[in-house]
Amino acid sequence: MENGVVMSIGMKMSRRSLLAGATGIMVGAGMRPRMLRAAAAADETRLMAAPGRAAIAGPDYPDTAVWSYNGAVPGPEIRLRQGERVRVVLENRLKQDTTIHWHGVRVPNAMDGVPDLTQASIAPGASFAYEFSPPDAGTYWYHPHAHSAEQVGRGLSGALIVEEAEPIPVDRDIVWVLGDFRLREDASIAGGFNNAMEVSMAGRVGNTVTINGRVPDRFTVRAGERIRLRLINGAPARIFGLEFKGHSPLVVALDGQPIEPHAPEGGRVVLGPAMRTDLVIDMTGNPGSTAKVVDTFYEDIAYKLVDIAYGDEPPIRTELLGAPGTLPPNTMPEPDLASAQWHEVTLSGGMMGGTGMGGGMGGMMGGGGMSGAMWAINGIAAHGHGMKPMLTLARGHSYVFDIKNETAWHHPIHLHGHSFRVVSRNGTPTRYREWRDTVLIPRRETAEIAFVADNAGDWMFHCHILDHQDGGMMSVVRVA
Ligand code: C2O
Ligand code: CU
Repeated sequence: MENGVVMSIGMKMSRRSLLAGATGIMVGAGMRPRMLRAAAAADETRLMAAPGRAAIAGPDYPDTAVWSYNGAVPGPEIRLRQGERVRVVLENRLKQDTTIHWHGVRVPNAMDGVPDLTQASIAPGASFAYEFSPPDAGTYWYHPHAHSAEQVGRGLSGALIVEEAEPIPVDRDIVWVLGDFRLREDASIAGGFNNAMEVSMAGRVGNTVTINGRVPDRFTVRAGERIRLRLINGAPARIFGLEFKGHSPLVVALDGQPIEPHAPEGGRVVLGPAMRTDLVIDMTGNPGSTAKVVDTFYEDIAYKLVDIAYGDEPPIRTELLGAPGTLPPNTMPEPDLASAQWHEVTLSGGMMGGTGMGGGMGGMMGGGGMSGAMWAINGIAAHGHGMKPMLTLARGHSYVFDIKNETAWHHPIHLHGHSFRVVSRNGTPTRYREWRDTVLIPRRETAEIAFVADNAGDWMFHCHILDHQDGGMMSVVRVA
C-alpha cells in the first residue's frame, strides 16, 4: 500500500506530494473543528458564508483561498440535543446566491434550503434565518444547495450533530468531516467546475483528501480508549472505502440512524458523497504503536488516509470492554410494505462503460452535449431546482421506490425530508433493513427503499455526486 497518485483531468499535483509535505501538522488543531453549541432557547448561531483562507494543504504550502462559513473549513460544528430548537442565521457574503440544506434532518419543508423550491435563493448581501427542532438524534451535516458542486468544492460544508439523551458511553466522541479538494501546485483551488467531461463521468474527484479541512498526518489516540468516530463524507464526488488496519470498528449508525452494531462488510466502511457512518472503535493497539487507515475504494489508486498514532501513556483500561449497545431508536414511522405503493425509478445517462474514475470514452447516452442534461431520473433531466414533481405522494402512506441504476457509474441517491429503509438490493432483502437518507447504488444495480411519506412539501430526490446533480440527475417528490 502506498499513497496513491490521485489524478484527474487537468490536474498536476499528486496527493503524494501533498502528504509528503504535510508531516508537521498539529493534530490537535487539525483534527478538531471549532464547535458551536446551539444552546437553549433564544440562542442564535450566526453563519457567514464568505471568501476566506484556510491551511488545507498544511504548513509547507500557502493557505488556500476558499469559500467558508465563519472563516473555517469545514464550517463550525453545530451540536445540539435531540428535540432542541436551533436557529441559524446565514449571511451571504459570497458573490453568488446560496442557501443551506440540513442534510438528513427531517425539517419542515420551508427550512430545507432548496432555492426556487422551498425558499428564494439568498442573494449576495442578504440573510436568511433557519429554525427547526431536529426530531432525531444522529450525525448530519449542512451544505449549500445552490451552485452545489462549486460551493461545496470550495469549502462550504459543516457537521451538525444531534446528541441522544442517552448516548453510547465512550471515552471520546470525534467527528471527521472527510473532504476532497482539487488543488494546483500552489495549493489554490483549481477551476473547471461542472465541465462536461467530468459531469458525465465520476464527477470532480479531487487530488487532496482532508479530515476536518486539513491534509491529515496522524490521529493521536491512547491505548485502551473507546472512541465514537462520526464519519461524514462531505466530498463533492469522491467515494471512500476506509479500512482501519489492526482494528475492529463496529458500525452503530448509518446516516445518523441507529443500527444493530456490526462489523462493516468486508472490513471496509464505504461512504458515498453525503453519507455518514458512526463507528465505535476500541483502541486495542499498544502504547507507542501506529496503524494505518487506508482508503481502498478506487482499488487502483488506494492510498493511506492517516496514521493512528498511539501515545506512550499506559492503557486507559486493561480489561476489554463489552460490545456497545444499540443506540435508542429515532422517530421515523415504520413503512408498511403490504400496503405500500410501488414506484419504479430509473437512473440513466452519462458516459457508457465507466469502470471507476478513469472511465471509458464510449458514446454518450441520454443527453446532448450540454453539462446541464447529461443525466436523468425517469427520463427527465432537471434544469434547476424549481421543477414539477415527478411523483405526488399521499401524506401518511407507505411507498417503495424500486431504483434501477442503468448507468455505468455509482450514484448516491438522496431523498430530502425523510429517512427510508433500504429493504433490498438486486432483489435480495438486506440484512439490517437499514435506515438511510442516501443510498449508494453501484453501476447497473438496483435498490428498493421504503418509507412513510409523512413530511408535507416538495422534496428533492437527487444524486449527491454534485456534478451529476447539476448535470440533471435531480427530481422533486411532492408529499401532499
Ligand atoms: Cu445533501 Cu439535496 O442534499
Ligand atoms: Cu450520480
